[in-house]
Amino acid sequence: MIKKILKRIKGNEYQVQVERMSTTEPEGKLSINLKKIINLLNYTKRSSVSYSAGSFDVGYHSFTIDGVELKGQRNPVERFANIPFDFTDKTVLDIGCNQGGMINAIANKISSGIGIDYDSRMINAANRMKFHLGNHHTNFFVFDLEKENLNYIKDFLPNNKVDAVFLLSVCMWVENWKEVIKLSKEISTHLIFESNGKPERQDEQVDFLKTIYSQIDLINEKSEDDPSQKNRRLYLCK
Ligand SMILES: C[S@@+](CC[C@H](N)C(=O)[O-])C[C@H]1O[C@@H](n2cnc3c(N)ncnc32)[C@H](O)[C@@H]1O
Repeated sequence: MIKKILKRIKGNEYQVQVERMSTTEPEGKLSINLKKIINLLNYTKRSSVSYSAGSFDVGYHSFTIDGVELKGQRNPVERFANIPFDFTDKTVLDIGCNQGGMINAIANKISSGIGIDYDSRMINAANRMKFHLGNHHTNFFVFDLEKENLNYIKDFLPNNKVDAVFLLSVCMWVENWKEVIKLSKEISTHLIFESNGKPERQDEQVDFLKTIYSQIDLINEKSEDDPSQKNRRLYLCK
């Protein structure tokens, strides 16, 4: 049984501290390695930011590992369900990848996947899981979109271009989101984009996409995979 403790950091900022499970013995369906991964996923939770999904079992993304379902706020498999893009043998870059769940969900199809996020705990969890699953063609790196020169993103890629960039529910969190979209266009012909924030902010994001891409197809009008927040829109831009 996992115990959650809320620890105040400053002002309104709390950290969900989930008691670390002992990993000396397996427990029912949970192998020692799976317990380690759950520990690291839980360690990504920070209640001051909504995307850390403190109230969900393992944070932002749902995973199925070794046949065990770990429930998060968003379901990557459902989010990919109707994207008209064939990921087979493709290279993808996920900007603001969180725990790496989106790349993880298509790891058996893609030829290479790179995830970047500024939160080192998210990247640690993504890398531990990649290691466990043997997904050596996926890589996760710490990168702060607001503080670092965006051109360095190209240096994480195996080649200078990828087949698709994901920029999913990131723009409301970063000031320089327009620059991030411009960089995405420079390195890929396809962008899978999820708008987030208040309706007017999402409209602003999509208006900007229209200045950069010639075709923008609305894939989902709602983020139905997330019962707690359905007001995001998913687009394929090319
Ligand atoms: C709402 S989550 C979306 C996660 C993921 N893209 C998805 O849709 O499944 C926003 C993500 O943006 C990341 N993020 C926020 N500010 C960032 C920054 N300055 N640099 C890099 N990543 C950032 C957060 O750590 C978080 O993982």
